[in-house]
Amino acid sequence: MTGRSPLLQSFIDELRAIWAAEPDTGRCMERARLAVVDFVSDPRVQAASVDWPSTEGRKNLLLYVDPDYHFVINAVVRVPGRKGNVHDHAHAWVLYGVLAGTESLERYERLDDGTREGYADVRMTSVSHGTPGAVDLVKPWDIHAEQGGPTRSVAIIVRSAKLGEVIQNRYDPVGKTILSGPGPAQIPFEMRG
Ligand SMILES: [Fe+2]
Repeated sequence: MTGRSPLLQSFIDELRAIWAAEPDTGRCMERARLAVVDFVSDPRVQAASVDWPSTEGRKNLLLYVDPDYHFVINAVVRVPGRKGNVHDHAHAWVLYGVLAGTESLERYERLDDGTREGYADVRMTSVSHGTPGAVDLVKPWDIHAEQGGPTRSVAIIVRSAKLGEVIQNRYDPVGKTILSGPGPAQIPFEMRG
């Protein structure tokens, strides 16, 4: 039907089967975790990602948008030592899987009550180090940061909704500020392999 990568197509088919069977988005995302683990653990997918372009400058590669269930498949390609911002993904659920290189995912909690305009006091609560095959589920509004490792790294992201134009929050843990704005630019990208 299309020239879509068979590896990507079978991943999409698995995700669509989950969404077709489960009306609750959160439960869909929990059930999709294993499919993401399988996808990012597949050496053929890892090999296919070696020449994917960098997403420096707040970009995401956009591999797929589901026309019926509205989940999306994104990828990010980080330069070595990439320093990530502290942010949330608004109402979207996110599965974040490391495909190549290493990354760490920092989790934060918010200590203030959110009533003071422009102010947020956030504190790091945990860091998980991801090697290829590691997948984290980030719930709506969860505050976190993805940090690059010593080499180029690639991650696959499944989101319950497309971001980009959605307003998300960015936090400065040192300055204790919160800024709202659109998310990463979505760059259509066709996976080969
Ligand atoms: Fe994120």
